[in-house]
Amino acid sequence: MNETQLNQIQTYAYQQLAQDQSGHGTDHIQRVVALAKKILATEPEANARLVEATALLHDSYDDKLFADQAAAKQNTRDFLTKLGLTDTEIGQIFYIIDNMSWSKGLDDAKPLDLNGQIVQDADRLDAIGAIATTRALAYGFAHDRMLYDPTIAPRDPQSKTAYRDARENTTINHFYEKLLKVKDQLNTQAARDLAESRHQFMVDFLNQFKAEWDLKR
Ligand code: ADP
Ligand code: NI
Repeated sequence: MNETQLNQIQTYAYQQLAQDQSGHGTDHIQRVVALAKKILATEPEANARLVEATALLHDSYDDKLFADQAAAKQNTRDFLTKLGLTDTEIGQIFYIIDNMSWSKGLDDAKPLDLNGQIVQDADRLDAIGAIATTRALAYGFAHDRMLYDPTIAPRDPQSKTAYRDARENTTINHFYEKLLKVKDQLNTQAARDLAESRHQFMVDFLNQFKAEWDLKR
C-alpha cells in the first residue's frame, strides 16, 4: 500500500461518514487515526500503513451506521479492489474491522495481532474522556434516549444483543455499561497511559452529575 492509496482511502472513509450525526463522523475518524499514530510511535514492529488504513475504514460498514451492512461492506471491498489493494491486504483490514468492536468482544471476537490491537485501542480511547462524553450524550439524544433516571439501574451486558437492548435505558447508564470498563480492556501500554486522565474525567463527570441531581452541590 502506498501513500497515494492511503490518501484515497481517507477520501473514501470521510465520504462514507460525512452525514453521520451520532458521533461516528469524520472528526471521530480523524481522532482515531491520530491516536493510532501516537500509539504507533511506541510500537515500531507494527505495519503503520495497514494500521492507518484500517483506522480510516473502521466504521465504513458499521451496523449502527449502515442499514444495509453487507452492501456497505461490498462497497468498501469494491473500492479497495479498484484502488489496487491485494485480496490479502483487504482481508487483513476486514479481519481487524470485523473483530475489533466492543460489542463483538462481548460475543465471539477472534484475537487481533499487534496492528489490530492498535486500531482497537485508538477507537476505544476515543470512546472515553471529555470529547467521548459529548459523543455519548450526542448519541443518546440522536437515538431519543432518556438522559438519566436513577430508578433504572445499569446492566452488565454479556452479549451484543444484551448490550444493544435499547428498552428502558439511559445514556448515563452507558457510562457504566461500557465506557468505564474501557480502560481495563486496552492492549498497549501507550493506550493505557492515555486512558488514565480520560477515565478520571468521566468518573468526575458522573460524580458531579449525580451530586447536582441530588442537589448536593
Ligand atoms: P462498538 O461499535 O465498538 O461495538 P459502540 O456500539 O459502543 O461500540 O459504539 C461506539 C460509540 O457510540 C460509543 O463509544 C458511544 O460513544 C456511542 N454509543 C453507543 N451506544 C451508546 C449508548 N447507548 N448511549 C450513548 N452512547 C452510545
Ligand atoms: Ni469508531
